[in-house]
Amino acid sequence: MVVTKAEIARICISAFGEHFMIRIGVGQTQPNFGDKVWNMEQTRQLLQAADHESVDVVVLPELLNSGYVFRSKNEATGLSEEIPAGPFSKLLQASSKKGRLIVSGICQKQGNLVYNSAAAFANGALLAVYQKLHLFDHESEWFTPGGKEPPVVEFHGYRFGIMVCFDWAFPEVARILALKSAQVILHPANLVLPYCQEAMRTRSIENRVFTATANRTGLERDVQFSGMSQVTSPKGEVLLRRGVTDQGLFWVDIEPRDSDNKMITARNHVLKDRRPETYTLLTRPS
Ligand code: ACM
Repeated sequence: MVVTKAEIARICISAFGEHFMIRIGVGQTQPNFGDKVWNMEQTRQLLQAADHESVDVVVLPELLNSGYVFRSKNEATGLSEEIPAGPFSKLLQASSKKGRLIVSGICQKQGNLVYNSAAAFANGALLAVYQKLHLFDHESEWFTPGGKEPPVVEFHGYRFGIMVCFDWAFPEVARILALKSAQVILHPANLVLPYCQEAMRTRSIENRVFTATANRTGLERDVQFSGMSQVTSPKGEVLLRRGVTDQGLFWVDIEPRDSDNKMITARNHVLKDRRPETYTLLTRPS
């Protein structure tokens, strides 16, 4: 086994009890619509890259088992799978046994319903399934929207929140994750609008958290996806951002505890200074 310099540094740091840097990788790829076998093979290659590069946390795009541009509910149903019984879930679960957290978008079948979901696996176990709350454009013709708060999972003593793609446009989602003490938001995506990558910097700043967006690339049935997968810091710095068409697993080392400092100035705490008693409109149905 080849141990990289970065890995030696990480091991030394953790041996001295200082902190354990997390190597976080975002997979950027182009699924083939409807080709479950090819999509599994591509995902296997990304997970092999995670093995070679000793990536601790892998974030993969939305709907990676199926592709995105459905034309009917039947298509979505036919390409969905149960979590964790389906083959794509099993692939993620097996790879997570190597001491890794993996969060991926999955077209999920649950009973007669189909959800646009993200599943989190670590150390061989299913930790959480999140069903996307905010469905984009035609998605509501095939998917049932989720009805539960987005989850936070623990890994290596750190806390990772999960949201899916268009949830970026609803700052309540990232806020809830921050209020649930997420230090890093993992964000499987199939982005088409040009604003998300910059908006995620704002989600970072307004909650003082890391974010990791794994976006797909390519053209599918006339829909162009924007790539530019990225990782942002609690100060809104872009720690990693790839090009529109790049494909592969791209990583950066982060210290999730950097997000525990919630002070915007010496006197302003980003969560404690909120005035929820004046925000009643936020919870009134529109
Ligand atoms: C999206 O939510 N996939 C744009």
